[in-house]
Amino acid sequence: MRVCVEKNYGQMSRRVAQIVGQTIAANPKAVLGLATGETPEGCYAQLVRMHREEGLDFLLVTTFNLDEYVGLAPSHPQSYHSYMSDKLFNHVNIDKNRTHIPDGLAPRPREFSQAYERLIGSSGGIDLQLLGIGRNGHLGFNEPGSPFDSRTRVVDLSEETRRDNSKFFGSISKVPRQAITIGLATIMEARRIVLLASGINKARAVEHAVKGPVSAEVPASILQRHPDCTFLLDEQAASILSEG
Ligand code: PGA
Repeated sequence: MRVCVEKNYGQMSRRVAQIVGQTIAANPKAVLGLATGETPEGCYAQLVRMHREEGLDFLLVTTFNLDEYVGLAPSHPQSYHSYMSDKLFNHVNIDKNRTHIPDGLAPRPREFSQAYERLIGSSGGIDLQLLGIGRNGHLGFNEPGSPFDSRTRVVDLSEETRRDNSKFFGSISKVPRQAITIGLATIMEARRIVLLASGINKARAVEHAVKGPVSAEVPASILQRHPDCTFLLDEQAASILSEG
């Protein structure tokens, strides 16, 4: 695993957007794994800018998002469908038929999850997976304790995650209790992974993921076993790592 530290959030966001841009330039049919949350917002803003100013072409790109809340309709303002439309899809020339996000309203989530896995496979697998990290070390919504061989499925959200995400919902009681997330095994099959972390409140999780034992208690620690994974951090998120 490589660790790359940028001065601040803006520079981290520009760097990851460059990596995405280079991936698409090298392969216009690239399959991207996308993340939501606060951390990748700057990356998506950069990608929109690169589309407008530099002609970055999303026409043939395929995307798979990591996760979605169970029970939220795509039109719900806090759904990850809405997030992706607002932050990226509505502002670039991507073909919406090539964008995939788990369906939080799927009547048969188990069958839906298996079909999502098959679709990733039949699309050729993920070329570049973007990830955030939870303060508890989660990846997607693979909370501590998630098996390393997990696949796309319905999961319960931890209290910590619900509390962290209540900033988007106004109150914790409005945060859904479950989500559909791709699994840790699914993530590990991506050919290249870039994990983003910004801010002091991610520093401990980053340190555990990079330097701690590979353990289901810190799901992101599994990335130590990936052949092409970069942790792209700002100085604050790297601060405990760089202490020793
Ligand atoms: P954040 O979430 O980017 O909103 O901090 C990241 C995550 O929970 O994976």
